[in-house]
Amino acid sequence: MSSWGLKNRLARIIKPQTGRTVMLAVDHGYFLGPTSGLEKPGETIEPLVQFADCLMLTRGVLRSSVDTAVDVPIVLRVSGGTSILKELSNEGRFTAIEDAIRLNASGLALSIFVGAEGERETLLNLAALVDEGEKYGIPVLAVTAVGKEMARDTRYLGLCCRIAAELGVHLVKTYYCENFEKIVNSCPVPVVIAGGKKVPEMEALQLAFNAVRDGASGVDMGRNIFQSEAPVAMIQAVRSVVHERATPEQAYDLYESLKNGS
Ligand code: R5P
Repeated sequence: MSSWGLKNRLARIIKPQTGRTVMLAVDHGYFLGPTSGLEKPGETIEPLVQFADCLMLTRGVLRSSVDTAVDVPIVLRVSGGTSILKELSNEGRFTAIEDAIRLNASGLALSIFVGAEGERETLLNLAALVDEGEKYGIPVLAVTAVGKEMARDTRYLGLCCRIAAELGVHLVKTYYCENFEKIVNSCPVPVVIAGGKKVPEMEALQLAFNAVRDGASGVDMGRNIFQSEAPVAMIQAVRSVVHERATPEQAYDLYESLKNGS
């Protein structure tokens, strides 16, 4: 079976020019409901999308809130089925591969919860999704989460990333932590980082800088962009770190000048 399509889709997500990506994550509503900054997803996405290498979102928001003429690769979240009111790790699949194909997805994203109640089911769901992705030439991104009582450190995040890679994914999303290079070095597929909770802009730019310095292939960032005081300025500042190797200070200067319109 030819893997041309899969590689081509992956190259739409991770830009071959730099080997990196700025993914804009706007999928939070699938378990959080109307997250701050994403109450009207279409209004949030519209000014940002031109600066995103791809969008990570659910089919519901894609269909309702993204213009079909927008030329941006889509990484479609296909796992969920739980809310913040319940045990989050009990996720299942909520989008069939046929619908992902109809939606012209360039990638599929599914969460795994290592060390949590839903570990076995989410890992087997991931493996099944990889089989389907391979069949139709669509790469799979594993969104890694660890049990509530586990530290987000190299031991547990590294375990999670490596397991995802062993099950066959093409890309892993995890959190940045101390000694992050250990995670990258023990994971044979590209790793991107989530931004996490909103922090001051300089801190978020430092996080992105540290991650790519330590071997990440980019970011899959949401709240630190769309909850920023100036989201359009912030995504461009993040891009400068990821694609142009700007320092956090240079990127922050860019953020400030774009924010102030100078
Ligand atoms: C988390 O479950 C979602 O998949 C988000 O896409 C992910 O956490 C990245 O968003 P943020 O940068 O806001 O953490």
